[in-house]
Amino acid sequence: MKLAQLKVGPMLNFVYVLADESSGEAMVVDSGWEIDPIVSELERLKAKTDYVVVTHSHFDHEATARELAGRVGAKLVAHRSSPLDCDVRVEDGDELALGDSEVRVIHTPGHTQDSICLLHGDVLMTGDTLFVGTIGRFDRGMAATMFHSLHDVILRLPQDTVILPGHDYGEVPRRSIADERLLNPFLGAPDLKTFLSIAS
Ligand SMILES: [Fe+2]
Repeated sequence: MKLAQLKVGPMLNFVYVLADESSGEAMVVDSGWEIDPIVSELERLKAKTDYVVVTHSHFDHEATARELAGRVGAKLVAHRSSPLDCDVRVEDGDELALGDSEVRVIHTPGHTQDSICLLHGDVLMTGDTLFVGTIGRFDRGMAATMFHSLHDVILRLPQDTVILPGHDYGEVPRRSIADERLLNPFLGAPDLKTFLSIAS
């Protein structure tokens, strides 16, 4: 499996291209600012793209997703609660085929209601739910939901899982959950009250 982490646009967005070399199938995760680098990467890999998956409905992640899906002949995928006009609606636990393997959808509401993470092997594409060293913004009313998504869902994955965030906001572009648990104060917070005190 090949993985490309592409930085696009003025907000340090990361877009991901996963490609299964044996089948020649690829998947794109997010597409916000410019699609040419993504199309170039797919052409370089000579990969057929079945899915363009949007991690959540914020413009810097989805603005060009429909155009990209049309250009490469892929289906546009988002969570079932997404306001986007998509071709495939997914929910927690669904799996999207990529060659002989699957990419698992994990619903992680908090940053937005429709936020999803995508797990493939030992990598987790986290959108704006979790960054290296910090987390995505959330409304006060979603604090408990965000805490649950981070602590009861993501932190329960294997600790060597590597998070691939939706923005390049950290000291490094990717980091393991084990390291993030130690270094990210939001993941180190033992309870919701502490979590909220860090956020304010
Ligand atoms: Fe966002």
